[in-house]
Amino acid sequence: MESLEEKIKQASDLKILENVRIEIFGKKGVLAAQFAKMKEIPNEEKKEFAKNLNIQKAKLTELFDTKKMMLQSQAIAEMMAKDGVDVTMYHAKSSSGALHPVMQTMQKMIDYFVALNFSVEEGPFIEDDFHNFEALNLPKHHPARDMQDTFYLNDSMVLRTHTSPVQIRTMQKEKPPIRMISPGSVFRRDFDLTHTPMFHQVEGLMVDVEGKISFANLKWILEDFLRYMFGDVAVRFRPSFFPFTEPSTEVDISCIFCEGKGCRVCSHTGWLEILGSGMVDPNVFEAVGYKDVSGYAFGVGVERVAMLTHRIGDLRSLFEGDLRLLEQFR
Ligand code: PHE
Repeated sequence: MESLEEKIKQASDLKILENVRIEIFGKKGVLAAQFAKMKEIPNEEKKEFAKNLNIQKAKLTELFDTKKMMLQSQAIAEMMAKDGVDVTMYHAKSSSGALHPVMQTMQKMIDYFVALNFSVEEGPFIEDDFHNFEALNLPKHHPARDMQDTFYLNDSMVLRTHTSPVQIRTMQKEKPPIRMISPGSVFRRDFDLTHTPMFHQVEGLMVDVEGKISFANLKWILEDFLRYMFGDVAVRFRPSFFPFTEPSTEVDISCIFCEGKGCRVCSHTGWLEILGSGMVDPNVFEAVGYKDVSGYAFGVGVERVAMLTHRIGDLRSLFEGDLRLLEQFR
């Protein structure tokens, strides 16, 4: 038995130790042979014999286990020293992902308004008729509902066609003054070069006591915002119509491709249409129970801005997940 202990202690690697294991603990090993002797031992000595043998076995097992653990960690250490990877080493091919160009553009917009203390609000994609239409001065059967081709889930629920319902939700939960934006996905039944069934808008709303917020404030912030987004451009306010604003304007910038001279992108007008805006219609304030206030609202299409700033011709290409396109925005 002494010599067996010695054998374990002297095993210098796992392979040798494995051979020692077979020799001692194997089916035809030393211990098995000892236990087999039991039947030749006189009955009165059996107990003592078995006890001693078990003590021996336990001792050897413990010795063996400890030795094995030691040799294993030694082997791992050797392997690591030989094949280890230096995780701090620079790898020329390493690469990382990036925000999608639409999200980059949206984030740039958010940064502008957050810097001016606008809060960022959210609303549900599945919206009820009241928030998406009714409260925005779009009663049932109003012809202006056709301005947006709507996905109806049933008679009363829709996929929101714009971020304007978040104006309503925010006014319902907060008292004026309000200074908010709401970025997010919107949905319309549209699909061509410049329209996809899902796209993104950033809505803006500012409300305060009557007379405090005027069209001049709207003009200033949109001009400033558009120059922040597009650089040194001319900004033009064009009379338009939205049911929830009065007066309403669409806002154009001078074409960033031809600098207003006229080209294919601006349909030879020299102007690019960027967003819709106006002074909040009194009917909207009435729908949320606001009295003696005035305010402005606007809505920007994020994809349109991303397409213009990155000169992307087909909006649909932004949603195909083609890495050859997306990798250019890393
Ligand atoms: N909701 C309008 C749209 O989707 C944009 C808009 C928002 C216009 C706010 C005016 C005021 O076309």
